[in-house]
Amino acid sequence: MFQNITIAKDIYYVGVNDRQKSKFENMIPLPNGVSYNSYLIIDEKIALIDTVDISFGNIFIDKIQSQLKDRKIDYLIINHMEPDHSGSIRLMRKYFPDMIIVGNNKTLGMVEGFYGLDDKILEIKDEQILSLGVHKLQFHFTPMVHWPETMMTYDQTVKVLFSGDSFGAFGNLDGAIVDTEMNVDKYWDEMARYYANIVGKYGAAVQKALKKLTPLPFEIICSTHGPVWKENITQVIDIYDQMSRYQGNEGVVIVYGSMYGITELMAETVAQGIAEVGIKEIIIHNVSKTDSSYIIRDIFKYRGLIVGSPTYSNELYPEVESLLRKIEIRGVKNRIFGYFGSFTWAGASVKRLETFMDTMKWKTAEISVEEKQGLKIDNYQACLELGRQVAILVKIPIIDEKHCG
Ligand SMILES: Cc1cc2nc3c(=O)[nH]c(=O)nc-3n(C[C@H](O)[C@H](O)[C@H](O)COP(=O)(O)O)c2cc1C
Ligand SMILES: [Fe+2]
Ligand SMILES: [Fe+2]
Repeated sequence: MFQNITIAKDIYYVGVNDRQKSKFENMIPLPNGVSYNSYLIIDEKIALIDTVDISFGNIFIDKIQSQLKDRKIDYLIINHMEPDHSGSIRLMRKYFPDMIIVGNNKTLGMVEGFYGLDDKILEIKDEQILSLGVHKLQFHFTPMVHWPETMMTYDQTVKVLFSGDSFGAFGNLDGAIVDTEMNVDKYWDEMARYYANIVGKYGAAVQKALKKLTPLPFEIICSTHGPVWKENITQVIDIYDQMSRYQGNEGVVIVYGSMYGITELMAETVAQGIAEVGIKEIIIHNVSKTDSSYIIRDIFKYRGLIVGSPTYSNELYPEVESLLRKIEIRGVKNRIFGYFGSFTWAGASVKRLETFMDTMKWKTAEISVEEKQGLKIDNYQACLELGRQVAILVKIPIIDEKHCG
């Protein structure tokens, strides 16, 4: 029944949209959904590249069978084992009992561990080539982008790179699949949010992968989430390159928690100080209102970060604490940092922010601000100064490591 969309000669899109899941990895909101992309290559031998979340098993198998007619899948190539892509492996094996599962050593260990399958498998090595007839598939291992087994599959014949999660974006595919057929504007921020929250910690591994991949003359990128990239490849690679080098744009993110508005007023004042210096990108996030995945996205996007917190039971405000842990986990590098806080009887939040500063080893403004009870003139001025100091440091251009030595 299905008319699958053709991506390149003999390559068909058989992925699905998930418009129901509210949180990716049970944590990251999906207001625009997410797609799980899978691709079928029809040649003398037939290969399926990755599968989809098992909740879509029925529709997935129908899409595949619409394309196969009465033929069978010969190879299932697994670029990534996270269950949003590996979830239907067992189902595929039930429908196609002779199908050979293709993966690297780490992948195949996981196939057995997750799904109990250890027969009809083919272990491939880095850069090995598998011929389907006309199509020649070359495997490129990209460990830790973002799991240890992750690899990409390059179809040398039609110059298509099946990239796994890399270059993917949140957001459903609303009719069209390929970027040339749609307005892609809505995907850029969702690509950044995907990168920052899912891949963000592994910047060094992404850099390694990019160095390995860029010599390949690919003309199409088929990732496992979001649009297939044809005419935006340069921009997509640039986003990955820039984010994995933790090279933020000129701008400052202010994140604060506040119960009764004192710390919030400090945040407003700090922002005014930043604007005085001429920075135009100032993003203020109330940590209790905006989901942390958007805040983390913006922290990856901009060089400056200023955090404010009231003291709460002799600790940081818990929502701020939780955000700081998320930043720490992702190992965000090269930020310009500033901090401020408030208390009523014995301050603790500013000390905790100082400890965070020591952990992250970022360049930090000389001034920090701590107010007792209502915001008064001295600390009002100090907040303006904090904003100015961070803004000035953000304005000093960072030396681009790529163009050094
Ligand atoms: C639940 C709760 C716990 C608090 N714990 C402390 C505390 O341990 N030490 C302290 O000095 N102030 C404490 N405070 C007072 C706040 O830190 C202080 O009023 C702060 O300025 C509030 O900032 P805000 O208006 O931005 O919420 C607490 C306030 C609340 C509501
Ligand atoms: Fe993944
Ligand atoms: Fe994924």
